Amino acid sequence: MVIETRERKIKFDISFFSEYEKTIEEKFDDFVNELDLSKEEKKSILTVTMELALNAEEHSKTPDHKATISFFFRDTSFMVGVEDSGIGWTNESKNKDAFRGNGLKMVRALMDSILVSDYKKGLTVTAIKEVKRGLR
Ligand SMILES: Nc1ncnc2c1ncn2[C@@H]1O[C@H](COP(=O)(O)OP(=O)(O)OP(=O)(O)O)[C@@H](O)[C@H]1O
Ligand SMILES: [Mg+2]
Repeated sequence: MVIETRERKIKFDISFFSEYEKTIEEKFDDFVNELDLSKEEKKSILTVTMELALNAEEHSKTPDHKATISFFFRDTSFMVGVEDSGIGWTNESKNKDAFRGNGLKMVRALMDSILVSDYKKGLTVTAIKEVKRGLR
C-alpha cells in the first residue's frame, strides 16, 4: 500500500548580524510557490515569522546571534517554528503576562494555535495556521 504524503518542509538559520528579513522573505516565497494559499494567508504567516524572529533577536540574548526557522506544510496545516538557544522563557517572562506585548498577541490573532516551549535550550515558538487549500 502506498500512502501518499503531501507535505513540504524547510529549515534554515538566520544570523542577527545579517539582513535576515530578506533571507526569510526569499525562503518563504520559494516555499509557498507550490502551495495554493491566499494572499491574506501568505501575508499573515510571513508577518508572524518576522515577529518571532524579531523576538528572538530582541529577547533571547543568544550567544550565537542566530535562530533557526522552519516551515512545515501538510494537508491544510501550515506550521512556522522559530528556535533560538538563548535564555528561554525566564521566570520574569513567565510571571508577567506573556501576551502583554503586541508581538505574541498578534501571532495568536493571526494563527490558529501557538506553543511556546523551552524544554530545549533557549526558546522554541511554534505557530500553526489552518489554510483553505493545500498543495497545488
Ligand atoms: N525568543 C525569546 N526568548 C526569550 N524571551 C522571549 C522570546 N520571545 C519573547 N520573549 C518574552 O515574551 C515577551 C512577550 O513578547 P511579545 O513579542 O509579545 O512582546 P515584546 O516583544 O516585549 O513587545 P513588542 O513585540 O510589542 O515589541 C517578551 O517581552 C519577552 O520577555
Ligand atoms: Mg515582540
